[in-house]
Amino acid sequence: MVKQYIDTHQQRFLNELFELLRIPSVSADSRHKGDVRKAAEYLVNKLQEAGVDKVELCETPGHPIVYAEKIVNPTLPTVLVYGHYDVQPPDPLDLWTSPPFEPVIKDEKIYARGSCDDKGQVYMHVKAFEAMMKLNALTCNMKFMIEGEEEVGSEHLDVFVKENKEKLKADIILISDTAIISLDHPSITTGLRGLSYVEVEVTGPNRDLHSGVYGGAVANPVNVLSKMIASMHDEQGRVTIPGFYDKVVELSAADREAINKAPFNLDHYKKELGIDDIQGEKGYTTLERTGIRPTLDVNGIWGGYTGEGAKTVLPSKAYAKISMRLVPDQNNTEITELFSNYFTSIAPKSVKIKVTPLHGGQPGVTPTDSVAFKAASAAFEEVWGKKPIPTRDGGSIPIVALFKKELGLDTVLMGFGLDSDAIHSPNEHYGVKNFLLGIETIVTFYKHFAKA
Ligand code: BES
Ligand code: MN
Ligand code: MN
Repeated sequence: MVKQYIDTHQQRFLNELFELLRIPSVSADSRHKGDVRKAAEYLVNKLQEAGVDKVELCETPGHPIVYAEKIVNPTLPTVLVYGHYDVQPPDPLDLWTSPPFEPVIKDEKIYARGSCDDKGQVYMHVKAFEAMMKLNALTCNMKFMIEGEEEVGSEHLDVFVKENKEKLKADIILISDTAIISLDHPSITTGLRGLSYVEVEVTGPNRDLHSGVYGGAVANPVNVLSKMIASMHDEQGRVTIPGFYDKVVELSAADREAINKAPFNLDHYKKELGIDDIQGEKGYTTLERTGIRPTLDVNGIWGGYTGEGAKTVLPSKAYAKISMRLVPDQNNTEITELFSNYFTSIAPKSVKIKVTPLHGGQPGVTPTDSVAFKAASAAFEEVWGKKPIPTRDGGSIPIVALFKKELGLDTVLMGFGLDSDAIHSPNEHYGVKNFLLGIETIVTFYKHFAKA
């Protein structure tokens, strides 16, 4: 019945998603403030049409939060769906094969910024809700909280959650903002990494200098920064910040074995990324390196002359944006402080250092023995014909830990993307099949969850 409803209405579902994808809701770019709002308003309308009792555009000092609910019967379990309607900036634009905000289907995949992360996945929930309403099959109370600042660190969600605990009361949080292993191997994410993100500024002389007149005698901040960054990994691929690993939980041999049971093909992995070899912390597999080990990476580095041709200059300043992915039980505030102290301590006297924390979040693991996890697992089994494999993902959704802390709620991470969907990259896409199967799996989840 659900399947038939989805089949009948799939073209309209896709058309509606396309409309949402056409709105360039780039939360990081203030020029798109109006567009971010438009995307929120679009969801408000669609939730309304789908039949919620109540829907609100909740203002924050930043981008608004969409809240909606359908209370069928207060004695039934309540599911709180979280997602985000904001997207990453689309640049570099010239690498897109079709414009990022003009969605098209190629090879049965929807190409557009946000198609997978996270508009496409959010929209599955709106349409799953519509289907349940139309089929008179809604077996749970539903709440939606869709935010517009996830890609910039969910700055104002914290206060919203703290101030609306009663409104957000639920039995479980359901999020589709992660990936499955492949269409042949469905999986459920059971853990996400945390994040500590900083910007560093290295200042040398008080102005850009002639690199011939002063070069060799005055510290070059770009040279200094490069060396400092290079020194932050040792020969084993480990981060050299003292204390960085102190709180890292070392998994048991059995848990590591379980993680490595997930299908993974190193040759495909390398080929898909166009690399001849992989690199990472010694003693760990690729799945462990991204799932259960912390990292330090430069996300961007700049300074000096980067324009056309050559300009002989010894720059006054150099900058980098550095992220550290964290695992249980690392604490992002502590790690930011360890980084800051260490980074300052290894700088030569010839430069001045400024470290600015940008944002962060706690790592989160989700239980696999809960009623909700079992319902999600059963839903996958029913729709995909295969038991989903539990996986630990490398990305971060910091609000998972926030929900646990503030609302006491566990999360089920029922995402349907693929690692190869190019989220945050040019040519982001999302499989039409993932979208449609996702809707069906979500509806099936409610059936199992209400039964339990
Ligand atoms: N949906 C992603 C997180 C993700 C992607 C988890 C793939 C698991 C698999 C989310 O939108 C995201 O990009 N999060 C940011 C963190 C945020 C604080 C900016 C991230 O992981 O970089
Ligand atoms: Mn996301
Ligand atoms: Mn993202």
